[in-house]
Amino acid sequence: MATRSLYLYKPLGGKQPSWRDLLYNPIRCTAILLIVALSLTSIGFLTIQRPWGSELSPNTFSSVPEQSELEFDVEQPEEHEVEVEAEIDEPAPEPDIIDGTVYHSFFAPSADETLADQTVRPIRAHRSLSDECLDKWVSTGRWQDPCRHSMVHESQIDLVYVWVNGSDPLHQKARQGLLMATKYKTKEARFREHDELRYSLRAARNATATWPNSTWHLVTADVAAPTTSDSDRRLGLVPQWLDIECAFYGCPDPETQPPIRLQHDTQLFRLTGRPGATLDAGDATDWLSKILPSFNSHAVESQLPHLDPAIVSDTIVAFNDDQFMLLPLPPSAFHTTLYGPVFRMDPNLLVGGDSSGKADGGGEWRSLGWSAHLLNQRFGTRKRPYMHHNARALSVPLMHEVSLAFGEYFAATPLSQFRGSHKVANEYEVNTIFISTHYVIERHREALLWSWIVAKWGGHAGTLDRDQKKKMWEELGGNGDTLRLEQAERRTFEDVEVNLLMAGLQPPRAVDSQKQGDTTYSWVSMDGYSASFHSLAKRVEMRRDCIGESPEQAWDMFRRVLTSDTGCGDNIIAALIHNDQAGLDVFLPAPSPESPRLSSSDPIILPLELPADAPPLPRNLRAFAVRLLMRYAYVLGDSPTIFMGMKSVRQTERMLTSTDQNKEAALLCINDDLEYNAKQAEAVLKKWFQQRWPQKLSCEL
Ligand SMILES: *[C@@H]1O[C@H](CO)[C@@H](O)[C@H](O)[C@H]1NC(C)=O
Ligand SMILES: *[C@@H]1O[C@H](CO)[C@@H](O)[C@H](O)[C@H]1NC(C)=O
Ligand SMILES: *[C@@H]1O[C@H](CO)[C@@H](O)[C@H](O)[C@H]1NC(C)=O
Repeated sequence: MATRSLYLYKPLGGKQPSWRDLLYNPIRCTAILLIVALSLTSIGFLTIQRPWGSELSPNTFSSVPEQSELEFDVEQPEEHEVEVEAEIDEPAPEPDIIDGTVYHSFFAPSADETLADQTVRPIRAHRSLSDECLDKWVSTGRWQDPCRHSMVHESQIDLVYVWVNGSDPLHQKARQGLLMATKYKTKEARFREHDELRYSLRAARNATATWPNSTWHLVTADVAAPTTSDSDRRLGLVPQWLDIECAFYGCPDPETQPPIRLQHDTQLFRLTGRPGATLDAGDATDWLSKILPSFNSHAVESQLPHLDPAIVSDTIVAFNDDQFMLLPLPPSAFHTTLYGPVFRMDPNLLVGGDSSGKADGGGEWRSLGWSAHLLNQRFGTRKRPYMHHNARALSVPLMHEVSLAFGEYFAATPLSQFRGSHKVANEYEVNTIFISTHYVIERHREALLWSWIVAKWGGHAGTLDRDQKKKMWEELGGNGDTLRLEQAERRTFEDVEVNLLMAGLQPPRAVDSQKQGDTTYSWVSMDGYSASFHSLAKRVEMRRDCIGESPEQAWDMFRRVLTSDTGCGDNIIAALIHNDQAGLDVFLPAPSPESPRLSSSDPIILPLELPADAPPLPRNLRAFAVRLLMRYAYVLGDSPTIFMGMKSVRQTERMLTSTDQNKEAALLCINDDLEYNAKQAEAVLKKWFQQRWPQKLSCEL
């Protein structure tokens, strides 16, 4: 072990580089450097400058960063690398080997560093798109001039695994210690380990081979270092089969496998508060003392919004280690710049709000009900579909926005150091995947309503008089007191493939569904909002009361149909969609040649909490609305998926055989529900893994 560690951790030129340095280390990582130099120049800058927008206060809009900071500085990539190397001076990661187990040693962030960055971030891929292109795209739903072929690329998507080795002796000891102290009981299967991670990564290598510049991030648990007086030193768990040098230095053969970066739970925790609240280091110290150590995957997931944008791409696919990609999938199965992230949900399994905390806290249901309740309060009450338990596409800047919008609830989540353990009213765990996904959908709906009511009809005057209300009603297609529309003729679905091909992207549909995993886009936000979460309303029926006749502030009407009269809001969107064949032009204010270009003093989002009084409007209403609709664009999609719960040895064998026979399954999830015979079932599973994915990763020992 000692020799191996020497080999593994041999410092470069005397100084052990941090893994962030290593991304830019010119000696070891020529290949990676090329990638960095060519594509991530702006990211190199971010590590030093973080040029995100101006400070956000809750009731005002948040601004766009200076245009100059937005632009990639393509001219001088070499100089950046030098700059980055000179300026980053982080403590080098130190390995530790305890009783033959390798750990990744690091220092916990200070209380100051634990305060969340409060600045809302733009989505990087949108910055290189001109306002003219975005306007054309959002208003017509067609990718044509002035959007040129070269303006978008296949999405850069990183994989993020949240992993813990429940059999690790130090982790086990820490867990038992806290269980004793709190007298809490957990299900041990939650921590059982069948070496799934290794095979999930082998499967991912094969399935994502065509993804450009993808990086894999392993977010693993950590424990206090036992042999040190320094209480800030932590030991991050490491999959024992992983060559950590390969992971640290981030330069395996990029042809065959993306770099793997290790991050640990404690490094990720960031304190958020109510929008607008000021928090200080004292708050952070207090918070940390209540939440660490954490043995709760909900708590760790609630911190994924704080993945460092300097090293993690804007789009991630979050995996549990029991989830596997069975067939190659193009990036468009998870994300495209045109249509946004692809969410997979089950419209037949609906989650309603529940703030009672009575639901099962050991599983997912308490957190789901609580998250649905928070969404209801902010966006109006309705039931929302459950997210399939499998590979999930997520946007890190948008998750970060969610974590600020619901800051106090995200901060309360890790108070449950075990899943469901902190059963205090209003301090239940949020379900990060559920709330983040539905937040995007709701913010898109909000953007549509804001654009039509506040920007288009309210305009700079901000009021809707009787005459305008009459015209609004007519625009919806109203006739007298009622409106009735049948069978929309939208082109959106027929256009998906053509648009993606025009943009130079591989469509999600498989030509041969045994060679590539097939993905169907079943709903695209270019069609507005679907109250059923999978299709256009077959007909729209509404009454004049929805719009009303008496004069009203546009902002008040917007808030009314957004949250209290959601049916009216849904009908407005559906009616406008029915009246056009493609695009969202009808929602947008008219273009005006005098409108100024968007600049740093313009907002990038609507306020996180909607104030009772209208905030000042951005100067260019149309360009702002277009960027807003683009920011929250999304797809609801499906791929052939197998979900198996391991219950017995025989049943596990049967399900694995049928998985092999299903040649079109793209995604697989294997849940451990074993009550007995876990060892035999594990042997069956491992044999199957080995035969399905025999080829080692280049970082595997
Ligand atoms: C990604 O990597 C490829 C080489 O694999 C490189 O040509 C390209 O410039 C990189 N950047 C982007 C944004 O794709
Ligand atoms: C993926 O696996 C299949 C079957 O094992 C193999 O034929 C194919 O070459 C692999 N593709 C990549 C990119 O490794
Ligand atoms: C998990 O921990 C056990 C006990 O230390 C060890 O034998 C096993 O190799 C570990 N698994 C991984 C994937 O690191």
